[in-house]
Amino acid sequence: MKYIIAVIQPDRVDDVLEKLEQKEIHLVTVTTVMGRGRQKGVATVYRSHKEAGSLLKKVKLEIAVNDAFVTPTLEAITSGARTGEVGDGKIFVLDLQECVRIRTGETGGVAIG
Ligand SMILES: Nc1ncnc2c1ncn2[C@@H]1O[C@H](COP(=O)(O)OP(=O)(O)OP(=O)(O)O)[C@@H](O)[C@H]1O
Ligand SMILES: [Mg+2]
Repeated sequence: MKYIIAVIQPDRVDDVLEKLEQKEIHLVTVTTVMGRGRQKGVATVYRSHKEAGSLLKKVKLEIAVNDAFVTPTLEAITSGARTGEVGDGKIFVLDLQECVRIRTGETGGVAIG
């Protein structure tokens, strides 16, 4: 199991969610966050509203998946979020030790989706 964290541009969220749906990836946590990358928060004015402290508004997606869904998830996020401009975002893939569906007590891969 993997835990996939993606930080993307707010205006790409709808497209990424649609690409994920097309690959049967429906479960996701979405958070509005602040961040900066290599450009140190210098915004291209037409894309991002500049916030205090050299931070730009971004959206973080978190998706826990079984191993078979790692590649489809990365493809969906990349294809939905890429414009070719700086600041398109980044994806982090972490090993996931455990997952528990609280209602049933199911664990592991069965509990993920
Ligand atoms: N190494 C990192 N650690 C933590 N967060 C990061 C890291 N790199 C990027 N991020 C997050 O992802 C957001 C988008 O990063 P961004 O796409 O600008 O990466 P980049 O490395 O600067 O690439 P690019 O040159 O294409 O802009 C950042 O605002 C930050 O929130
Ligand atoms: Mg950048």
